[in-house]
Amino acid sequence: MDKKVTVVGAGNVGGTVAQRLVEKDLCDVVLFDIIEGIPQGKALDLTEAVPIEKHDAHLMGTNEYEASKGSDIVIITSGIPRKPGMSRDDLLATNRGIIKRVTAEVTRFSPDAVLIIVSNPLDAMCHAAYETSGFPRSRVIGMAGVLDSARFCALIAMELKVSVENVHASVLGGHGDTMVPLPRYSTVAGIPITELLPKDRIEAIVDRTRNGGAEIVRLLKTGSAYYAPASAAVEMAESILKDKKKILSCAAYLEGEYGIHGLFIGVPVKLGAGGMEEIIQISLTDKEKEALKNSAAAVQELVKAMKKMD
Ligand code: LAC
Repeated sequence: MDKKVTVVGAGNVGGTVAQRLVEKDLCDVVLFDIIEGIPQGKALDLTEAVPIEKHDAHLMGTNEYEASKGSDIVIITSGIPRKPGMSRDDLLATNRGIIKRVTAEVTRFSPDAVLIIVSNPLDAMCHAAYETSGFPRSRVIGMAGVLDSARFCALIAMELKVSVENVHASVLGGHGDTMVPLPRYSTVAGIPITELLPKDRIEAIVDRTRNGGAEIVRLLKTGSAYYAPASAAVEMAESILKDKKKILSCAAYLEGEYGIHGLFIGVPVKLGAGGMEEIIQISLTDKEKEALKNSAAAVQELVKAMKKMD
């Protein structure tokens, strides 16, 4: 295929991202991990499914960064996931080291790639990758808002017993407890959910969305969610590979938009061949602005803590 995507980290998220990319026939995939055998084993397993799944996209598994050379997109999923009782922020020091190392390597071999960061704590890891890569902000984007919006969407559809295809949901802010689901901008067949559901039900759904990651960690006990996170990363990659110019909530480096400077935070962006091509500024109420500011302050704390680690 004429497009190439490297997925770094062959764990549950990385493996599922690789599977979805090739089964959608979007690109050839290099699955990288430092653990010997895991990326090779998963790539071979997926390749042996091709006679049944019938796609043209090829996969390879590797422990060599050189194999990632010339990628259009690098999706970084490496790092440790949280265990029950942990917050995403507890992963900061360990995953920061991993992200910096990985970013330095992959950008050496793919200097023109778009980086999609998936590792947690998401917004801080985007910051680490942005600084290490020296890439323009258009080519460093974080996956979180698509996942959080998908969770919000799924819960709205379940609550109203309507097709999820009718539901659009919007979540801004950092990918943590302070994320900002926006009921006013979340609709069913174009109707804001604020006109369809009582306040207490909206609050319950918003709360479950905010804690969606933790709910799955509690159930799985040995790691965090991966099916929906993988779908979200692939939706972003598809919009870039096909230059679809979809508007999706993603972590983007803000330089004054929404009154936020020098921080990654989830906002609606346009994703096309150039990566993050535009930040869409929507009008917010004072309460929504306050919630976004609060979320940015939480991300700022993590960035400050990372600075102290240098
Ligand atoms: C979640 C993790 C992956 O939200 O951040 O499930």
